[in-house]
Amino acid sequence: MLEHGSDVFALMPVVRPTFIIQPATPVMALSTFLTELDSLSAEAAEAFASAADQSTLEAARVQFVGAKSGRLKAVQKGLGAVDKTDRPAAGKRFNEVKQSIEAAYQSAVERLTAVGRPTACRCADPTIPGACRRLGRLHPITQTIDELKEIMGRLGFTAVDGPEVEDEWHNFVALNIPADHPARNPLENFYVGDAAKPQAVENASQPRDPSPQPLLLLRSQTSTVQIRTMERMRPPVRIISCGRVYRPDTADATHFPMFHQMEGLLVDRGVTMADLKSTLRLFARSAFADDVHIRFRPSFFPFTEPSVEVDMSWADGWIEMGGAGMVDPNVLDAVGYDPEEYSGFAFGLGIERICARRHGIADIRELFKNDVRFLHQF
Ligand code: DAH
Repeated sequence: MLEHGSDVFALMPVVRPTFIIQPATPVMALSTFLTELDSLSAEAAEAFASAADQSTLEAARVQFVGAKSGRLKAVQKGLGAVDKTDRPAAGKRFNEVKQSIEAAYQSAVERLTAVGRPTACRCADPTIPGACRRLGRLHPITQTIDELKEIMGRLGFTAVDGPEVEDEWHNFVALNIPADHPARNPLENFYVGDAAKPQAVENASQPRDPSPQPLLLLRSQTSTVQIRTMERMRPPVRIISCGRVYRPDTADATHFPMFHQMEGLLVDRGVTMADLKSTLRLFARSAFADDVHIRFRPSFFPFTEPSVEVDMSWADGWIEMGGAGMVDPNVLDAVGYDPEEYSGFAFGLGIERICARRHGIADIRELFKNDVRFLHQF
């Protein structure tokens, strides 16, 4: 019998309720929270510091500290999941990180607004790669001219220059080119001013007209420099002159209204055609190759007698290089040299042809378009 008041239940097995209490959010270890916070801080600082312009900076701001879906906001939400006892420490660190991210943002704003504004103490950043400037170089024609001067210099020829705007005396008359010669036709030349005006000097036999306004033209040949040189010096003369000449030619693969010539002149006692031929042969071997072939075809130029056309061949077909010959006695006369005492040879070669042949340039117009993509190849 059980006594009244005794604990009957004491004998009964105790059945306790067995529900498990699930926390509202999963618990996050303090260390995980802090790691997340630190990597966010580092990423944000890097994004703000490297933003190169306002819009990149704004995108970074939205990504890290955007009010709605910024990553800082997301990390803040995780604060609730940190164990209660750790929460004060987590909150303190959160605030510090938040402040440092905001400071990084502010300094990026200042950096970008300062761009373009002269500042007294902007420090140079030696880690930024330097701006690589493309070096310029000499035009292939200039390079060719330099080499020609060098080759002819070794043969004893001095390089001289003459003006590009010439008078008729130096371009025609003293070179034995009479007034009715087709080379003086206004359509064949770039006269400066009125070519219909009566001409200042017609022939070398006429005294030089000291007309105050001689008819001028852009020189059509560098042979002008032969005259200018002989006018100012006595033999022996041994010069070359490289430069621009002008003719109203239609531009095509081998012609251009402006081109370059190398003029050569040697005057001394006893100069013969053999000297001319060996000089040009030596020149060709230096300018091209030892196995270059050179040939002379009879021709006519008013300022040489006899005259020849000079062709060269190296590796493939013949190319006309220019004209040459023995200086005409009338030319020697015109400059006051005695043709009985002195003789000389002269030649005029096309520089574009030499340059094009050496570099395999098919169209000389390329040389004057000044497209650096073309010019940078030489
Ligand atoms: N001046 C001539 C021309 O432009 C080329 C020339 C031919 C020059 C014969 C010379 C020479 O010195 O002797 O067509």
